[in-house]
Amino acid sequence: MRLGVNVDHVATVRQARRTFEPSPVFAALIAQQAGADQITLHLREDRRHIQDRDLELIKELVNIPVNLEMAPTEEMREIALRVRPDRITLVPERREEITTEGGLDVVSMKERLKEYLKPLKEAGIEISLFIEPDKEQIEASLYVGADAIEIHTGRYANLWNEHRFEEAREELRRIREAAIYARERGLRVYAGHGLTYHNVKEFVRELKDVVEELNIGHSIVANAVIFGFERAVKEMIKLINT
Ligand code: PXP
Repeated sequence: MRLGVNVDHVATVRQARRTFEPSPVFAALIAQQAGADQITLHLREDRRHIQDRDLELIKELVNIPVNLEMAPTEEMREIALRVRPDRITLVPERREEITTEGGLDVVSMKERLKEYLKPLKEAGIEISLFIEPDKEQIEASLYVGADAIEIHTGRYANLWNEHRFEEAREELRRIREAAIYARERGLRVYAGHGLTYHNVKEFVRELKDVVEELNIGHSIVANAVIFGFERAVKEMIKLINT
């Protein structure tokens, strides 16, 4: 399976102080160096983490595909047409949410989305829609002209994290069925959200033959902070004692 590394939460730490560090651009380059297949980032309407400049620099500097997650708004479409990421992933967005909760309801906006996506498709940008593992959403995704879907794994991740393993396995079966259904109809199938170093193994074991790519962010950033903490403290001690 390919790995898309989502660098949003590197920017979250930076925005806590509105300073210059840590830089998601630097993180994207390190992820590329470490073997990531793609950089994923979400430019939110409220700019709470990634800024426009981050997107521009990442697109300019990395040599692996860039996947821009965005809400289906006019502003975001203009940005996508200007910056030309390799892929856009449409996600729902509510200002009050902490993270993207639930997939995009493609069914309820399919006529609007079909029109919305036309110029992006004409620009040669791959179109992916972040949806729940649901046949109606898959049919609607085909209707609007999507090339791919990204299946929302949040429910699986939450069940697993709460040690509700039977229900988590049931959710994996639901994801599997949806992935097969989508592939049979010619869609590429990706997945992501809430995956961690703990719950990813079972996901991969059960789905590696039908899901091409995972997009993972928060858990990678969280572990980077912890793995790097000892070194960072030692460096500071050295600096203030020389
Ligand atoms: N995929 C999509 C479409 C997302 O919106 C997000 C969160 O921005 C992710 C993957 C990554 O989720 P997480 O940060 O929980 O790994």
